[in-house]
Amino acid sequence: MADFVKVASVADVPDPGKLMLEIGERLVVLAHVGGQFFCIDDVCTHDGGPLGEGTLEGYEIACPRHGAKFDVRNGCAKTMPATENTVSHGVKVDGGEIFVRIRESLGDVGGASSEAASSNQTVSSEKSGECCGGTSTVLSASSMSGATVASACSAATAGDASQLCEDHVREELKRVIDPELFVNIVDLGLVYDINLSPIPEGGTKVKIDMTMTSPMCPAGPQLIAQCKQFVGQMAGVGQVEVKIVMDPPWTPEKMTDAARDHLGIF
Ligand code: FES
Repeated sequence: MADFVKVASVADVPDPGKLMLEIGERLVVLAHVGGQFFCIDDVCTHDGGPLGEGTLEGYEIACPRHGAKFDVRNGCAKTMPATENTVSHGVKVDGGEIFVRIRESLGDVGGASSEAASSNQTVSSEKSGECCGGTSTVLSASSMSGATVASACSAATAGDASQLCEDHVREELKRVIDPELFVNIVDLGLVYDINLSPIPEGGTKVKIDMTMTSPMCPAGPQLIAQCKQFVGQMAGVGQVEVKIVMDPPWTPEKMTDAARDHLGIF
């Protein structure tokens, strides 16, 4: 576990305010909100945007690139297009000086700042970074009914891992239904790329690049959670990563004829 290192004095950071720091080779953001200090990675999990250059409002900092918001208290990704939490670090204040303990990854419980250090109280935070009711995943799955253009579950779900391929993953993704349009995300044209690669621990990593019908689509977290859930249940899948891409943007032309028929678009 890394040691606490002194990074700044309390007087260096206005309240509210933030400071970008380099600790070792790690870029982090130190935030001061309501008399408390928090520290998270300076890297947006969507596409590497510099969070420290974003706007801090309350406990949320917005990525300057595409607007994803993160909770500085725990690194929780709060809005699209980010779907993964960023790493939070331990903070303590002692004698007017601020100390940070770097946590290497989301799975490292050594330094998470689920509690903060206040400027007039020494608090060393050592709890793991719980977030949005979970530990390291921003999204929670929910059930859905009313599927109309959904396909049947693919054979690969229950079948043998050797059958795992892009086509089977795409079929499985047809189980994910847009809750407003009642059309599956494949027929809607939201799924762009599917990439399969072996992982050292065994099994296959499935990386899905998909988009949304609009950048602030309220159904986004639900759709992503279901992608992870359904694909993660397929035989041979060891890891699922869903990345939201905005380029190229979605247009109605990307829909299949089946989706168009369902929506009455001719
Ligand atoms: S890089 Fe941060 S929202 Fe896209």
